[in-house]
Formats: sequence, structure tokens, C-alpha cells
Amino acid sequence: MEKLKGLDLEGKKILDAGTGGCNMTKFLEDWGAEVVSIDIRGDWQKECREIASQSEFITGDLTNMSFLKDESFEYVVCNFVISALSQNKNLFITSALREFYRVVKKQGMLVIIDYYPFEAELCPGPCDNLQIELWRLENTVSEMLGKGHLEEFSPAVIEKELKCIGFSETDTSILMEEVPWPIDLFKEHEETIKQNIGYVEEEYLKNAFRKKLNDIMDKVEESVVKSGSIYELRAQK
Ligand SMILES: C[S@@+](CC[C@H](N)C(=O)[O-])C[C@H]1O[C@@H](n2cnc3c(N)ncnc32)[C@H](O)[C@@H]1O
Repeated sequence: MEKLKGLDLEGKKILDAGTGGCNMTKFLEDWGAEVVSIDIRGDWQKECREIASQSEFITGDLTNMSFLKDESFEYVVCNFVISALSQNKNLFITSALREFYRVVKKQGMLVIIDYYPFEAELCPGPCDNLQIELWRLENTVSEMLGKGHLEEFSPAVIEKELKCIGFSETDTSILMEEVPWPIDLFKEHEETIKQNIGYVEEEYLKNAFRKKLNDIMDKVEESVVKSGSIYELRAQK
């Protein structure tokens, strides 16, 4: 997958929004960028400092980065983070996008790379895509328990939002079509959903969720599942 293709990263000041396992920070550092890497979780920082020793790591919330000055980065890179910024849905994502706009320099660029599981034509109503069914079940159970969950924002929706915020140009390209979902990934999600179902108090709901989960997992065993795509969205300030 060719991310950030054609961009001149060397010597540029870049915000890696959402450090996670530090893959993007390391990638940018190896290209000679001066990286500031932010994540709401501080627990990986020690490890990340060893992996990307030239970069600066900050524990902070992307939706409120008041500790960063306006227009201080040539690029803001957001690698698989939009789909994790889910707790308060639209509001939450919009606040982060506004912050990205504020901290990126004039003529600078925001690059969002993410996974979009819901291709437009698969989206409306019921569908027979097992990955989507599982995703929706996971979201439903999580929402019932008041927990956050993964999001379904399409790049087209994000582009619209970025234009409203003030970005002048936006463009999305597909980096990888139909990412296959291996059975192990289904099993990982199955475990999470099972655990969450365990916290649901109403017995009839528990049973309904369990039945749906079993139905999905039975079908998974016998089919190869492909899901949506990975996109790269570039927005110029
Ligand atoms: C899938 S990981 C990111 C992967 C990483 N960018 C990489 O390239 O390896 C998503 C990250 O977003 C972080 N995150 C979610 N919401 C956040 C927020 N409001 N502020 C900062 N980080 C957040 C999570 O803690 C998690 O580490």
C-alpha cells in the first residue's frame, strides 16, 4: 500500500495524529520528517520513544490540542484514527478536524488514511455482507452499554466536512480495494461482542444478540469474506 505517495516529507514538520503502535511516526521519521506524535493514551510512549527516537511524543486529545500553536505543521497525518475517534460520533470527529485545520500551516495539508467498511452500495438497509453484519452487531451491543464503537464515516462525508471547515481542495484515492477479513479477525470481534453481551441485563436481548452472533459466525466458517477499502484523503488548507 503506497501511502503519502509523491509528498515531499523530508525536513517537514509533521503532526502524526494518533500515535497508536507508532507505525506512522516511524515511517515519517525514516523519511526525514520532524514529527510530533500525539495520542490520548500515554501507555505506549516508552516503547515508541525507542522505535522513533527522533520524534516528540505527547499525550493529548486530538479534539482539543490547545497545547499546540496555530499553523505549526506542514502536514497533519491521521493514519487509521478517524475510525477510532468514535465516542461522540459526528461532534467528536468535527472537533478533531477543526483542530487539524487550526494547526496546519497555510498551503499545508491534512492526510487522512483510513478503513471504510461500508461501500455506498452496500450501505442502505439489511445486507448479506458478514463483516458489515458483525460490525453492526458490535456497534449495537456497545451502544446499548453506553460504550464507544467504530464509525462508518465515508470519505465523501469527511470531504464535505473539511470543505465546511475551510480546507480549499480535497481529494480521495483508494489505496486498497476490498480488504479481506481473515477468520482470526472475525474471531477477535466475536470475543469482544460475546464479552459485551455478557453485560446486557435483559435475558431476551442477550438471547437475540447471541443468536445473531452465532448465525454470522456459522456463515463465516464457510465463506471468504471481503469488506470495504482503504482510502487516502488529502485536504489542502
Ligand atoms: C488504530 S490506532 C492508530 C494507528 C497509528 N496511527 C499507526 O500508524 O500505527 C488509533 C489510535 O487513535 C487514538 N485515539 C483515539 N481517539 C483519540 C483522541 N481523541 N485523541 C488522541 N488519540 C486518540 C487511540 O488511542 C489509538 O492509539
